[in-house]
Amino acid sequence: MKIAFVGKGGSGKTTLSSLFVRHLAAAGAPVIAVDADINQHLGAALGLEETYAAALPALGEHLPLIKDYLRGTNPRIASAETMIKTTPPGEGSRLLRVREDNPVYDACARPVELDGGTVRLMVTGPFSDADLGVACYHSKTGAVELCLNHLVDGADEYVVVDMTAGSDSFASGMFTRFDITFLVAEPTRKGVSVYRQYKEYARDFGVTLKVVGNKVQGPDDLDFLRTEVGDDLLVTVGQSDWVRAMEKGRPSRFELLEEPSRHALRLLRCAADATYELRDRERYTRQMAHFHLKNARSWGDERTGTDLAAQIDPGFVLGENVTASA
Ligand SMILES: Nc1ncnc2c1ncn2[C@@H]1O[C@H](COP(=O)(O)OP(=O)(O)O)[C@@H](O)[C@H]1O
Ligand SMILES: [Mg+2]
Repeated sequence: MKIAFVGKGGSGKTTLSSLFVRHLAAAGAPVIAVDADINQHLGAALGLEETYAAALPALGEHLPLIKDYLRGTNPRIASAETMIKTTPPGEGSRLLRVREDNPVYDACARPVELDGGTVRLMVTGPFSDADLGVACYHSKTGAVELCLNHLVDGADEYVVVDMTAGSDSFASGMFTRFDITFLVAEPTRKGVSVYRQYKEYARDFGVTLKVVGNKVQGPDDLDFLRTEVGDDLLVTVGQSDWVRAMEKGRPSRFELLEEPSRHALRLLRCAADATYELRDRERYTRQMAHFHLKNARSWGDERTGTDLAAQIDPGFVLGENVTASA
């Protein structure tokens, strides 16, 4: 399953992504964790030393390698230079799988050992608000979108993306690349307004959106979220002493995380797992084409000097049964 955590800065996206990754790892599930948040903190939240985390290879800096690998022998994609972030896979493209070694992971993923298991971590590298505004050729999150569009994951495999809910993800279509999106919201007007905006974008694309209330302190908070969010509210998480201890540089074993938080994590996993049977692979592939055409027309064709629409392989559907060629 492909899972995104989005929300306002400071709402707890990174915290909840990291707890969810730990929860999956502790259960022995294979996980790729991706830090695509504007503030790159997922590595630290997974317990990496600050200096090591800051020196992780950035996806954004390996775009040529990523494009060349994914392009494979796809005859519709003439060169890595004509491949933009929305270029979809087709016959001849190489696909990524959660459980494999490949040159993209070699260059951009690093193992992180957690209680109970090891996950792979990939990071976009630091970016700014300015990077988010433009639907740009060099977009830092473009590498993540390319990887998601070329990644086939099974029912018991997880890709967890800590992501900024910005205009970039709406313009490019990245917000449609997930089986489920967890919108982390504090019980505040701002938290809820990010939810409304997301919901608005998501409506026409069949995005499964669930709200995770965070830093919820009492019945008033819960009542506020229930009123504002209704049935989209999946679960709420309170202040966690385990997280606070971690923030103080005194991490404890994951099994000591408070039961209410563990309960919330189980619900998140159930909600994610439930999406698998409902997957619509054809729609997923169609949406790639939709956003690719949109980006091609608005800037891509001109930028690459190519008719990017011709990159779309009409007979191709992304799914686990597709055998990667090349
Ligand atoms: N449930 C929680 N309990 C305790 N502290 C939390 C909780 N959720 C988030 N925090 C703290 O709030 C701050 C912001 O969280 P963070 O996950 O970095 O937000 P975001 O990634 O959305 O910007 C961090 O200091 C984090 O430790
Ligand atoms: Mg963050």
